[in-house]
Amino acid sequence: MQRFTSEWALAWMEALNQSDAYRKAARKWKWPVVLRIESKVDWWLDLDRGRCKDIRQATPDELLKTDIILAASEKDWGRILSGEVAPIVAIMQGVITLERGSLLKLSRHAQAATEMLQAAISLEKAEVQPQEEMKAKPSLGAVAQISDAHQAFRTTSAGGLDQDSLPMQLFQKAKKLGVWDPMDIDFQKDRADWQRLTEDEQDILVRLLAMFQAGEEAVTLDLLPLMRVIAKEGRIEEEMYLTTFLFEEAKHVELFSRIFKEVVVRTDDLSGYHSASYRALFYEALPTAMNRLDADSSPAAQLTASATYNMVVEGTLAETGYHAFYSVLESRGIMPGVTEGIRLLQRDESRHIAYGVHLITRLIRENPELSPLFHQVMGELIPVATATISEIFSQYDPVPFGLREEDFLRFAMDQFGKRMRRIESGASGAPVQSASE
Ligand SMILES: [Fe+2]
Ligand SMILES: [Fe+2]
Repeated sequence: MQRFTSEWALAWMEALNQSDAYRKAARKWKWPVVLRIESKVDWWLDLDRGRCKDIRQATPDELLKTDIILAASEKDWGRILSGEVAPIVAIMQGVITLERGSLLKLSRHAQAATEMLQAAISLEKAEVQPQEEMKAKPSLGAVAQISDAHQAFRTTSAGGLDQDSLPMQLFQKAKKLGVWDPMDIDFQKDRADWQRLTEDEQDILVRLLAMFQAGEEAVTLDLLPLMRVIAKEGRIEEEMYLTTFLFEEAKHVELFSRIFKEVVVRTDDLSGYHSASYRALFYEALPTAMNRLDADSSPAAQLTASATYNMVVEGTLAETGYHAFYSVLESRGIMPGVTEGIRLLQRDESRHIAYGVHLITRLIRENPELSPLFHQVMGELIPVATATISEIFSQYDPVPFGLREEDFLRFAMDQFGKRMRRIESGASGAPVQSASE
């Protein structure tokens, strides 16, 4: 069926009204949406609480009335509707632009928006021959054949270590910049500043800190399976860099532990600050993706692990967290020790993310058929990351320090989009990115 025809619109409407997933996700969605195929046509979707009443070309009057306009080029809509790019990834990456409407509203109803587009995607999927679909599916179970015996050593082979490789550049940087000691930071003024904060101000900071504290512990506990796979593949440069990676995560655990002990002065159970989406990521998705590598070292499993660890946890959620600390502490000139610790930690993390971008780019370049899997993982986890951000804000009214949820969602989107573009251009053969973020 040809896209963007009346027949297509009718089929999409029927698919929406038959989709249980859409009906469930869109229970609270009561706004019409315009889908703009740039310089071609505007489609008006009359949506009301899980029902689609009509899909037709928008009239000028409807265009004026609509709350939400999602726009992309015909080529990009094609990539989304063919299932090549996950809808939520396309929105986060700015492939689909929100020409009108609130990002906050869209984020709160991300699942509804995703299911809305998923119904259109399903129309095209139904037309794909089963054989072709089989071909497009990544072979999840394909475990690389690696012998336990070493066949050769890189350092005593012709050429030796690849000093110019990105992992070695990161290793050089880590030896200079990653050796700061959390025990050296002076928290005296921080404690005095802390005591002057209001109860709500303290509470939102404890919430953030409790998320970071457990998050750093999780990434320290869960990195080893990836290191083992990289080592087994004989990638000595990558493994050399990863030795610094794990050391740095351990220091980050220590940094937050000191902040709790000496600034916040709390030793009670803080797990109540871990919201449902936070738990879905750090208690479930991250350890599952990482520990799976013990049994399955396939490129697909590695890609899933790095996408979860480096792109979602480090690249989207943690980066947005630093932004929160800076917004609160730096602008007020308070708690200089915590600010200094976060600054040093973020410099380490930028190397971790650069390694993740390198690994994902390498995996997709070597296995182009894995690109849809990467989008699938991002499509599943990015909404969990943005929901984690929303769950912080939903606890406060008014939100302390005048923080605005929309600013943080936009920040998370920018970070995510920047790295996705780097991976996409790298995977398609462009020169490898530099060792700095
Ligand atoms: Fe860390
Ligand atoms: Fe990290």
